[in-house]
Formats: sequence, C-alpha cells, structure tokens
Amino acid sequence: MKPVVISGTGLFTPPYSISNDELVTAFNAYVELHNRENAAAIAAGEVTALEPSSSGFIEKASGIKSRYVMEKEGILDPSRMTSRIAERGDDELSLQAEMCVAAAREALERAGRVAADIDMVLVAASNMQRAYPAMAVEVQEALGIEGFGFDMNVACSSATFGIQTAMAAVQTGQARAVLVLNPEITSGHLNFRDRDSHFIFGDACTAIVIEAADTAVSEHQFEILDSKLKTKFSNNIRNNFGFMNRFDEAGAGKADKLFRQQGRKVFKEVCPMAAEMIRATVENAGLQIPQVSRYWLHQANLNMNLLIARTLLGRDAEPNEAPVILDTYANTSSAGSIIAFHKYQDDLPAGANGVICSFGAGYSIGCVVVRKK
Ligand SMILES: CC(C)(COP(=O)(O)OP(=O)(O)OC[C@H]1O[C@@H](n2cnc3c(N)ncnc32)[C@H](O)[C@@H]1OP(=O)(O)O)[C@@H](O)C(=O)NCCC(=O)NCCS
Repeated sequence: MKPVVISGTGLFTPPYSISNDELVTAFNAYVELHNRENAAAIAAGEVTALEPSSSGFIEKASGIKSRYVMEKEGILDPSRMTSRIAERGDDELSLQAEMCVAAAREALERAGRVAADIDMVLVAASNMQRAYPAMAVEVQEALGIEGFGFDMNVACSSATFGIQTAMAAVQTGQARAVLVLNPEITSGHLNFRDRDSHFIFGDACTAIVIEAADTAVSEHQFEILDSKLKTKFSNNIRNNFGFMNRFDEAGAGKADKLFRQQGRKVFKEVCPMAAEMIRATVENAGLQIPQVSRYWLHQANLNMNLLIARTLLGRDAEPNEAPVILDTYANTSSAGSIIAFHKYQDDLPAGANGVICSFGAGYSIGCVVVRKK
C-alpha cells in the first residue's frame, strides 16, 4: 500500500485554566446552596443532600490538576455552572471553527503545506456545535481549501478514526493531503453539578496533516505503519442530547442530556481492550512491544494509562515512554492523545516507533502505529 505520513500537527489551547481548587470551591458553594434551599425536604427524606467534592480526591482518582476552558466565569458561578458564551451571528466564524483554524495553521506550517495542498478536511470530535452545515465545510471556507470536507463523531476516538479515514483517502487517491481537526469544547457536555464527573474534562483543539510519503516535504514526518479500529456497544459512557429531545418535554434539561458514565466499569472494561488492541496493532505492523519507544495514550485518567502501560511493558512506564498531558489539560476527548503526540515527538530519533491510542464512548478504540522519519 502507498506509504502515508503524518506530516504536521497543531494545537490550540484555550485562554483560561481552572485549577481543582477553583472548581471544587464553586462546586461546594453550589452544594451548600442546594442543601440550604432544600433543608426541609432533606430533613423529611424527600430530597437527598448533596456531598461536597475535594481536590485531593480528584487528583488521586484521575491525575488531573487543572483544565483549560473557552470561558471560565460562568463555570465557576455556583448559580450557573456552565460557560457563558454569547451566540454568534450566522455571518461570523463559529467558535468551533475558530479553534480549528488556529490549530490548523500550526499543523500546516509544521507540514510545510498551504491551503492549496489540502484536498479534504475532516472535523472529528465528540460534539459538533450545530447540526449543519458541517463544521468541516466552514473550516474549509475559512482556510481557503478547495475539495471537500465532512464531520465525524466517534467520541474520544474521533481523532484516530479520522487518521485512518484520512489515510485511506490518500491511499486511494481521493485526496493528496487531508487535514483532520479535533475541536473539543467538552465543557459544553460536562455536568459541572455532578460530583462524580465535574472535574473530568477540558477544552482544546488539535490538527493533523496526513499525506502521501513520496511527496511530503515536512521535517516532522511520521510514517503510519499500521492502524486498527474497534467498536463495541456500551451504555457505560452515554449522552442523550440530540435533535429529538424536544419531542418529549418530560426529558428537557435532564442530566442524561449531558455526559454521564459508570466510571468504574469503564476503567475495568476499557483498559484490557486498549492494551490488547495496542499489542495486536504493533504486531500487525511487524513489531514487538520492546521496539516501541513511545505511547501517546488517550488522556482520560492517569491510573488507566499507568495500568495499560504496565500491562504492555510488564513494568511501570518511564515518564517519556507514556507522556502525560492530562494533569494540565484534563480529558480533552479526541484531542488528548494528539496533544501528547504534538508535545512529545520532536526529541525522538529517526526510526523510533510509537503508538497513538485513543479509547472512549462507543466503546471505541483506535490505534495508530507510527515511525519517525
Ligand atoms: C471517574 C473516576 C475518576 C472515578 O474514580 P473512582 O475511584 O472510580 O471513584 P468512585 O466513583 O468509585 O468513587 C470512590 C469514592 O469517592 C467518592 N467521590 C466521588 N466523586 C468525588 C468527588 N468529586 N470528591 C470527593 N469524593 C468523591 C465516592 O463517593 C466514593 O466514596 P465511597 O468509597 O465512600 O463510596 C474513575 O472511575 C475513572 O476515571 N474512570 C475511567 C473513566 C473515564 O475517565 N472515562 C472518560 C472517557 S474514556
């Protein structure tokens, strides 16, 4: 098959960071308010009292210390607890497209490419800010790219599924080069009033240029040796938000229209699946685990990543073998493994092998084995 490379990556980091302490202070103020307002009903056993959150728990259970968001004040307002971002007019660039354009510019520059070199734009993310027109088509217009674009959603695995889709388009000659974008505004689907998950997510956008190896000009090339995707239906991570919500008023505003999960089950079920997929994809590429220098794993939970690395290596990973970015970014859904890849790739020598692996709702798992050129 025609060799294909990742020739450039880009990252847009939102302007605001929220520490665990800031988030917990807002959450606990909300809890106090709720418990005070419902004191009589709580005393009568009609309403359950809410319990406070703690920074210590968050860091220990997840490894997360802070997260970036597109707007901070609304999230930290105990009477609101969601971002306050004004709607834009139809003639303005939408917020998600704006993030894409910023990340895309860096990816194109690192790839040594301009808009005219790209034939296809894929916006692959957990949430699109509108139903249509596709975000990808707006981004295409904003960057001045000819050809075509479309959106895809495989939750946290959207980027790796996007990479394989892009690779196939290059191999079949449908596109000379593809721009894959992962604009994750996860603060939009996060229930900041849910103690079990209010700390999990952060916002970010990543960009990836994928093109034929024989014509690539970049100094930052990684050949894609193999990729493997897997999905297996599970309700353990689910969000029922959708265009049919208005058909049933009884469901309006309910917590199931935001992210929710059975965290323990996800942890237990996904870690072995991801480790198994990584091993299979590495072997399919003609390699063995000891020949892999770096794992750019999905950044949801530090303990998950430590377990996956230990399962593969038979020992704890060195920090540079499985770089961590979730401490400052939290879970940025599909962008997470690509942020790790973007930030921790330039030190690798030519010939070094690595694995990008994402996992999440679906369940969905995507593995991409790459070699530095
Ligand atoms: C979400 C996750 C961090 C929770 O960690 P956990 O150790 O499983 O925590 P649990 O929900 O079992 O709760 C453990 C205890 O902490 C308490 N707790 C939960 N949230 C808390 C909070 N915010 N602050 C303080 N305590 C909290 C619980 O009440 C429970 O107390 P108990 O033992 O007295 O009953 C973890 O399950 C996880 O990361 N799972 C992976 C899933 C994931 O990240 N998915 C994203 C998509 S891939």
